This record gives sequence, structure tokens and C-alpha cells, in this order.
Amino acid sequence: MNFQLTEEQLAVQQAAREFAQTELLPGVIERDETQTFPLEQVKKMGELGFLGMMVDPKYNGGGMDTISYVLAMEEISKIDASASVCMSVNNSLVCWGIEKYGTEEQKEKYLKPLATGEKIGAFCLSEPEAGSDATSQRTTAEDKGDYYLLNGTKNWITNGNTASIYLVIAQTDREKGHKGINCLIVERGMDGFVVGKKENKLGIRGSDTHSLMFTDVKVPKENRIGEDGFGFKFAMSTLNGGRIGIASQALGIASGAYELALAYSKERKAFGKPISQHQAIQFKLADMATEIDAARLLCLKAAYLKDQKKDFGKAGAMAKLFASKVAMDTTVEAVQIHGGYGYVKEYHVERLMRDAKITQIYEGTSEIQKIVISRELLK
Ligand code: CAA
Repeated sequence: MNFQLTEEQLAVQQAAREFAQTELLPGVIERDETQTFPLEQVKKMGELGFLGMMVDPKYNGGGMDTISYVLAMEEISKIDASASVCMSVNNSLVCWGIEKYGTEEQKEKYLKPLATGEKIGAFCLSEPEAGSDATSQRTTAEDKGDYYLLNGTKNWITNGNTASIYLVIAQTDREKGHKGINCLIVERGMDGFVVGKKENKLGIRGSDTHSLMFTDVKVPKENRIGEDGFGFKFAMSTLNGGRIGIASQALGIASGAYELALAYSKERKAFGKPISQHQAIQFKLADMATEIDAARLLCLKAAYLKDQKKDFGKAGAMAKLFASKVAMDTTVEAVQIHGGYGYVKEYHVERLMRDAKITQIYEGTSEIQKIVISRELLK
């Protein structure tokens, strides 16, 4: 077993750290306050190759491994989880999904601009009445010969307004259950496609989360991913990889909060000495650092398995389950260490605490991760 990162992986980690410090940190509090998407910053992320990291260079991607992606996601998420969720969805759901299962034409037309960030992608599975129970899709894609007629509503869609390429999961044949579901590539601007209301969220307030409405949208047959009825399996398979991205986001939120708490504890004095000299604080720091290290190892293990082309579904779900709990626990403790300062915006930890919660909800709640894990255990 080798715990040593390669020169290339270390360089990616360093580049992401510098980018987050210089480009994302300034303005992150204001963007959270005003619910402003980091458009300029995301554009630069595309130029630096952070939006199509694992895509084959022949489709304009970075050709990097999943371990590099985990490292970059952690660094970006330490500073701005709103930017990193955009990065995660674009990389692991949209780019990966099209690269793995799309046709050559779909890759040329859609993957290439997605990999450079020229266009941003969104993954549209959740509906008002289909979140965890993803087979209960109400959105319909009626087969009309050479096109599908798409009707329905999607909810809580990350990059909802920023995206221009949408992977939309919809029911074609209800009788067939999950085998009657398809995934269609829908373009912004198609007649009948409207971006709905923006959600006013607890955390990741800079990310633009919208509902989407489809009314008689004609989607050409060549925009279907995979064979007829492959849509549900496509979504499940894609989410397996997406969970590594969100686990890394949770890891970054946790390690960002820990680093702030550590630094603060050395500066802040109480009872005649820095609070880091009090055992009550030392115990907290020791727990936080240990849990973060364990979460990082789970993320890297899942990434390693994916890079080795081995089964990574259980490992990704374990990483997400654990890292998202660590993100919650660590950020709450980071606020506690900061005391009153932790409760105000300037010190960043209250935002990280609010951002942490979503990592236990999206791309499958913690309960869903336990279902995915236990199914593998009981196979
Ligand atoms: N990987 C690969 N295939 C899988 C799979 C997985 N993790 N889970 C299920 N499948 C396959 C099964 O093998 C089965 O195929 P067969 O019929 O050929 O055997 C098929 O899919 C149907 O599986 P199930 O009968 O097990 O399906 P189910 O209805 O019991 O659901 C579930 C399983 C795990 C609960 C699933 O519905 C699920 O993962 N739900 C959560 C959905 C989710 O994560 N939503 C997040 C929205 S996206 C998002 O958040 C993005 C964002 O904006 C950040």
C-alpha cells in the first residue's frame, strides 16, 4: 500500500489551493449573503481545467485521475462549497456520464464544451415527489418516433440557471418500472423548457439551485443516452461516482473549518493563555483531525478503486456517509471553538456549518448511502 501522492497529484492539489485562496476567498462571504453564483470564478476554474479533470484529453479534458479530483475538490471546498458543488456536478455526473455512456456524436457536441467549462452541465433526477425514491419519476418522455416529447418538473437542480446542457431523467414506459426510464440530453433554449424559481437555501447559497419546467419539449432521439430504458441505471451508475465528489466536498468543508479553528485557538487568549493550551480545546482538535484523516482515507480509497476500474459503489457511499457526518460534527465544533466570533459571518465557520448539512442530503441522503452499503454487504 502506497500513501505517497505523485508529483502530478501534489501539483494539482497546490494549484487548487492557490486558486481557492486567491480567487474564491475574496467575496465568498458576500456571495453567500447575496446568493450570488461565482460566475467569473467558475469560468476561471474551467480555464484551469478543474471542470473536466478526468475527461480524456481528446475531448478537451485534463486526463487526470480521480485521486487528483478528490484533492482538488477538498481544496476548493475548504473555501467555497458553492463553487465546488458546481465543479462536482460538472465533473462527476455530467462529463463522466456522457464520456462513459454517450455516443461519439454526443461526446463531440456536448462533452467537449463541458470539459473546458465553456458550457456548464446539470443533472436532473430529483422531482417534487421523487427524491430518494428515484424510480417514481413523474416527468415523462413520450416516444414519438424520431423524438421524445418531454413533460414535467424537476426540483433542486444544481447549476439550474447557469447550465446550458441538462441530463434529464424521465419515464417513457411506466409499465416497465425502472426499465422504462430514459436519460435525455436537453439543451438550454429548446422550446418549452423554462428555468423556474431559485431556491433560498440554508447553505451553499452561492450555488444556483432551481426548479425546471418542461412542456412539450421535443428532444431528438439521438440525445438519448444509452439504449431505450437505460436511464435509471445510468443515473445510479453516475451517482456512484458523484458520491466521491460530494464526499470530497464534505471533507473539504470539514478540513477548512478545522484549519480555521486550529489557527484561531492559537491566537485567542482566555484565562491567561491561548485557548489551544486548554485541554478542552485540545481534545476537540484531536477528534476533529482524526476524523478528517479517516474521511480523507475513505475518499482516496474510493477514488483509487475507481481509477483501478474496480467496483467503487460501496466505497463511494461509505466515503460520503462518513465524510458528511464529519463535516457536520467538525463545523459545529469549529463554531464552538470560535465562541461568539464563530456565530458571526466574518469568521467563515458559521457558513461552513450551514454548507455542511447539504452533504448529508444531496446525491442520496445518509440513509440512502446506508441502503447502498448494506445491499453490497448482503449480496
Ligand atoms: N449502482 C448501479 N446500479 C444500481 C445501483 C447502484 N448504486 N442501485 C441500483 N442499481 C440498479 C439495480 O441493480 C437494478 O438493476 P436490475 O433491475 O438490472 O437488477 C436497478 O438499478 C433498480 O434498482 P433497485 O430495484 O434497487 O431500485 P430502488 O428503487 O430500490 O432504488 C436506491 C435504489 C438506492 C434507493 C435509489 O433509488 C437511489 O440511489 N436513490 C437516491 C437518488 C439520489 O441519490 N438522488 C440524488 C439526486 S442528484 C443530486 O443530488 C445532484 C445534485 O444536484 C448535487
